Amino acid sequence: MNVVVGITGGIAAYKAVSVVRALVLAGHDVHVVATENALRFVGRPTLEAISRNTVHSDLYEGVAEVRHVAIGQAADLIVVAPATANTIAKLASGLADDLLGNTILASTAPVVIAPAMHTEMWQNPATVANIATLRGRGITVVGPASGQLTGRDSGPGRMSEPDDIVAAALSITRPQDLAGRRITISAGGTREPLDPVRFIGNRSSGRQGVALAEAAAARGAAVTLVTANLEIAAPRGVTIQKVSTTLELEATMAAASTDADVVIMAAAVADYRPETVAEGKIKKETQGDVLDLRLVKNPDILHGLVERRPVGQIIVGFAAETEEDPEALLALARGKVARKGCDLLVVNRVGWSEGFATEGNEVVIIDRAGDIVGEASGSKRSVADHVLDLIARPY
Ligand code: C5P
Repeated sequence: MNVVVGITGGIAAYKAVSVVRALVLAGHDVHVVATENALRFVGRPTLEAISRNTVHSDLYEGVAEVRHVAIGQAADLIVVAPATANTIAKLASGLADDLLGNTILASTAPVVIAPAMHTEMWQNPATVANIATLRGRGITVVGPASGQLTGRDSGPGRMSEPDDIVAAALSITRPQDLAGRRITISAGGTREPLDPVRFIGNRSSGRQGVALAEAAAARGAAVTLVTANLEIAAPRGVTIQKVSTTLELEATMAAASTDADVVIMAAAVADYRPETVAEGKIKKETQGDVLDLRLVKNPDILHGLVERRPVGQIIVGFAAETEEDPEALLALARGKVARKGCDLLVVNRVGWSEGFATEGNEVVIIDRAGDIVGEASGSKRSVADHVLDLIARPY
């Protein structure tokens, strides 16, 4: 997507760098249009390096290519962060005395603004009226948050966090095809304690489950994410419930699934756990050369959820296999979907370097009958969206 990030002259302009970076990392072509005042707060080279594009600020540059309207015409989305009281007033009046004003007036793309100013300015009747005008025209206003301002004062007026601005901006351009659906997702890998300091675990980072939660929330779903030992930050905008062991995951998933429309088991679950957990640290001095561990089978959470599911609930499982041969992998997956009884099974091959803890993924999705209903490869986010496409509309 072609995204224009408008940066205006407030101290929060330094945080606009993170907005630009998050949009670039999400795969968008980002073009910064900065006011002259914005460039007093943040350097052009910084913005050019981070956006990977030329930064535009001068209305009288690129006149031959009619740049004052071309940038806005090409935009799929415009994000103004920070939006000062002055810029908000100019937007409300339809003024175009700088490149950003021209760009916005010449564009039909959705516009998102993230106001940033002192509390008095935010609460001034002029700003209140201008914001109401902009909202009335369909402009999305993100924040401001309440908190520490530039000086010693604090209150409403602080620019929202860059991740929140980007999430809000991207969600308005995305179809809200999961609006009203409640989705419970598990992510990460369970750990089974041996003693107070040791556990048996697996290499799941939780990235795929987190990507599913983020993608579902962006498409309008109400998401509960049950996290088992995530290696990465949990996403914002979803309800998080933390667990560690398989038995904890089982209990939490059972409770979080009762009123869910969709349940996705993306967590890597330990099939066995130590029969007993030592009260104190197991010592080599008392164990000698060999340590015998007795493991007992864990419940199959996915299978249990399928058995007790409410009518109409869609349940999705994941299968991570080390099988190299695609046909044999598919045969394993077909056996698994039959045993577990879930509606969809997302199958991927994992090894020492594939699947786990990596940024990308390659999957085949089969239905209950064992038929291939989807294939996806790329970032875990794009794989997540592919899985959700199958849930959003009948496959
Ligand atoms: O049998 P396998 O571990 O390959 O199945 C993988 C799928 O089953 C995943 O969706 C995983 O979350 C789930 N699972 C489970 N409980 C277990 C083992 C796996 O819910 N004990």
